[in-house]
Parts: sequence; structure tokens; C-alpha cells
Amino acid sequence: MHRFPDGETRVRLPARLPEQVVLCRSLDRPNEKLVELILAAGAARQGGASRLTLVAPYLCYMRQDKAFQPGEAVSQRIVGTVLANWFDALITVDPHLHRVAHLETAVPVKPAQALTATAQMSAFLAGRLEAPLLIGPDAESRQWVAAIARERGLEYCIADKARLGDREVRVTLPAGDYRGRRIVLVDDMASTGRTLEAAARALAPYQPAGISVLVTHALFVDDALKRLHEAGVDAIWSSDSILHPSNAFELDGLLARALQLIIG
Ligand code: R5P
Repeated sequence: MHRFPDGETRVRLPARLPEQVVLCRSLDRPNEKLVELILAAGAARQGGASRLTLVAPYLCYMRQDKAFQPGEAVSQRIVGTVLANWFDALITVDPHLHRVAHLETAVPVKPAQALTATAQMSAFLAGRLEAPLLIGPDAESRQWVAAIARERGLEYCIADKARLGDREVRVTLPAGDYRGRRIVLVDDMASTGRTLEAAARALAPYQPAGISVLVTHALFVDDALKRLHEAGVDAIWSSDSILHPSNAFELDGLLARALQLIIG
């Protein structure tokens, strides 16, 4: 790839390609990467690829699945349609699906495969902490928290979240005694980190033995890490879906197995 002085990008692939091509790109920094991805997909088609698979460990624009105000773009559907225009198949990990139950509805290709990193998360936790209490910061996190807890036979609970703005959330913990407990906050992703920070701040008065964070996708924009540490979080762990200093476990095996089934 070459970036021109005006901000445009030149993408060059090998001139001749096999019929089956897989593009692997995590879609954090989405506005820039989506254009590059589409240019690459176009070049792949031009080079002879007739079956194009996208492996996007982190899939962007999955959160806006409805217009909250009249005139608002439903970005999940729009970006999903763009991807479906260029790709025949998709593999991703823990996409943020809320009101839409199936990835295929958001990105209409077959297969559109949504893998989950919960087995990797629970393997990572094994033997690391003694009887931690898992807490999901909002209702949507239940699917991941419950799966990890089930696999490891751990206790868990789910907090209630109200989002007041991009960087403002209110998290209410369920009644319970968190004193002296080793807490792991689990979510699919951290962006500003304010959701996890609000959960950590709500826990502070109980003086837990420690608070860790375990997420699939580590966006952690701006000063998110610093704020989390200031809120009492002592360890931050993420998968390598997005390269980040908090990466603690890998998704390559999970992705490779799924890809093998698709491309044969
Ligand atoms: C949304 O419900 C997601 O699961 C995350 O909780 C959310 O995207 C985190 O965003 P932030 O880190 O900006 O609070």
C-alpha cells in the first residue's frame, strides 16, 4: 500500500491470483481501512479471484443497528451491504450484534460466520486467578460472561448500564457483596473504556481484592488505559484481534479452523 500526499491510497496485489483469495484485515480505524479493503477486494477480483473471503477478527460498524434519530444512517446495514457486494464469505470474532440476532442479517453473505473468543478467554483465565467473580457491565455482555463462567464453573453477575453520551455511562451493580473478591470485568470490546471504568468505580467502595479487565477487542482509545488504572483496574487482558499492548491470548487457531472449513 502507498499513501499519496493527498491522503488517497494505492493498493497493489500480485497481478495474477488464484480463484480462491482470503483477505485478512481487522477493521479498527474503520474509515481508513474500509476504503483500503475495498480497493484490495477490487484488485483481487481484477486479478482473477472468483471467491473472496474476508477474515476480519474485529468487524467495525456493528453497533449502530437502528436509526435513533430520523435521518441517521444505519451504519451496520450500510457497511454490511458494502462488504457483501465485494466478498463471498466472512469470518469474524464476537461481532457486536444487539437487536440483530445473526451476522448474516448485518452482512448478507454465506457463510457469515461469527466466532466467539470465550473458549480462549476461559483458557486464559484458567489457573491464573483463584475463584474470580466475573462481572458483565451491561445486558449485552451476558452472552460472553455466561459462556466463560459456565466453562470454568465460575460465579458471575451482570450490571445495568445507561449510556448518556459517547464518553458518559452509568453502571449500576446488582446487589451483592464484592468485598475482598477478585473481580474480572468481561466485555466484547472496550472503546473509550468508560463502560469498564464506570463498573470499576462502582466496585471501589466494596474494596474488592482486585479488578481485572478481559475483552475480545482492545480499541482503548485516547487515555482509556490510564483512566482504567486510575479507577482501580490492575490488569487488562485482550485478544490479538486488534494489536494492542494488552493482548494476552491469540485467535489464530480459532480463525484458521473456521477458515479451513470454508475454503476446504
Ligand atoms: C456495547 O455495549 C459494548 O459491548 C461495549 O460495552 C461498549 O462498546 C464499550 O464502549 P466504551 O468503552 O466506549 O464504553
